[in-house]
Amino acid sequence: MNDNLEFLQAFLKNPLGVGSIAPSSPELSQRMMDGIVPDKDSIILELGVGTGALTKYIQKTLSGEDCYLGIELDRKLVSCIRGKYPDLKFVRGDACNAHALHRRSKLGKVGFVICSLPFVSLPNEVNQKIYGEIEKFMEQGCVFRTYQYAHGFYLPSAIKLREFMRNRYGVSERSSLIVKNVPPAYTLTWRT
Ligand SMILES: C[S@@+](CC[C@H](N)C(=O)[O-])C[C@H]1O[C@@H](n2cnc3c(N)ncnc32)[C@H](O)[C@@H]1O
Repeated sequence: MNDNLEFLQAFLKNPLGVGSIAPSSPELSQRMMDGIVPDKDSIILELGVGTGALTKYIQKTLSGEDCYLGIELDRKLVSCIRGKYPDLKFVRGDACNAHALHRRSKLGKVGFVICSLPFVSLPNEVNQKIYGEIEKFMEQGCVFRTYQYAHGFYLPSAIKLREFMRNRYGVSERSSLIVKNVPPAYTLTWRT
């Protein structure tokens, strides 16, 4: 099935959990990977893989299949991305358990968290759990990158994520507005 249709179906089934009507554009996906060079001792953990729009660009940076782990909650989307990227490791699971899922994978240390989770529409208690997981990776030295849509940038839950991160890791590196995405978005990066 076409990616846009697959994504739209997932959105209609669970609008708040998916958080967007379309996958990220090539422009946003490319910007999410700017300057990111993983290896097997500093792997990429992708949270909220969807139909793999970012994964296509992530794959180009990988020196081997042991440099990547993807976590996605939606069962149908997981079977879609497993079909598309048979060499990459995807776990059907909840980002609330990201640390344990990574440990179980036996892959190397997480050097980069590439996150597309829709914090703006997920319940606050879920966000808090995921923040705690991000913190565990950051404690070990890591780059965390996510994107926020321009129209939601000043919503309380979007501000809450930035505050959480700023209080611990300082002000984010924010990209210019990526207008070639529906909807337009910024990438935000923190490093430890
Ligand atoms: C906005 S979509 C992003 C998809 C894709 N990365 C992209 O940029 O096009 C968010 C994705 O996060 C997934 N998701 C939502 N909550 C999750 C959770 N707690 N754990 C893992 N994945 C989750 C959704 O199923 C959805 O595929």
